[in-house]
Amino acid sequence: MKFFIDTANLEQISQAEAMGILDGVTTNPSLMAKEGIKGSKAIEQHYIDICNIVDGDVSAEVLADSYEEIIEEGKGLAALHKQIVVKVPCTANGIRAIKSFTDMGIRTNCTLVFSLGQALLAAKAGATYVSPFVGRLDDVSSNGIELVSRIVNVYRYYGYQTQVLAASIRSVQHIIQCLEVGADVVTSPLSSIMALLDHPLTEKGLAIFNKAAKELA
Ligand code: E4P
Repeated sequence: MKFFIDTANLEQISQAEAMGILDGVTTNPSLMAKEGIKGSKAIEQHYIDICNIVDGDVSAEVLADSYEEIIEEGKGLAALHKQIVVKVPCTANGIRAIKSFTDMGIRTNCTLVFSLGQALLAAKAGATYVSPFVGRLDDVSSNGIELVSRIVNVYRYYGYQTQVLAASIRSVQHIIQCLEVGADVVTSPLSSIMALLDHPLTEKGLAIFNKAAKELA
């Protein structure tokens, strides 16, 4: 399973990259706004900065709504860096644009996916990635992991090449469940990635070993 970090914060991306376990980055307009980035030039430079930190795919989301504007904006984003994957919302215009990007050889991430039907359209349009939002489904008393599992199973059955990128991850439990149901990628905040390390027996064992190490010195 590939591991992406879900942030536009350069420090956090560098921290995850330094661990040697990072395969890519996902961003969205909310995450970019959180970093205080304003204006198209600053946004473009920020994506380039992210690409220069990580050796992997970097999802950059279009802000446009109409088909024509999505195409224009997506082409511009893709031209910024070879690692850029154009992130497009799962709307009628978005699916049409994803199909056009596929025909142009531009890689895409179909985002805001909350149903198997939406995931089917993303795969039919040739999206490189589909992003089911696990946490946001759980928030409305639905089951995010179950959707990830259903998409994985259907894609494997029909041989769709679109990779299942589980998004809106809120916990270690989500990451482990995605691993178990066969997600191709999980994108999570740094806090959830770091929390994978946590185990009381590791901390306890380390304290014992550190005490013994002092006796050996
Ligand atoms: C990433 O691709 C998504 O935009 C992100 O995971 C959404 O996460 P949230 O539901 O925590 O905003």
